Amino acid sequence: MTKVNLLENGPLVIVGEHTITHPDGTQEVKPSRASYCRCEKSANMPFCDGAHKG
Ligand code: FES
Repeated sequence: MTKVNLLENGPLVIVGEHTITHPDGTQEVKPSRASYCRCEKSANMPFCDGAHKG
């Protein structure tokens, strides 16, 4: 089962296989786990790069 965890003041973490559809329509399959930025400070959007900590 795929799970979604919202970390306080941090990213949205999806655990389990899922597919991302990017704004340009391309799709990317993540086989196990990925963290998505919610603070908009990441230099690697849409993924969290830890910038929310500082
Ligand atoms: S939530 Fe981690 S960089 Fe934005």
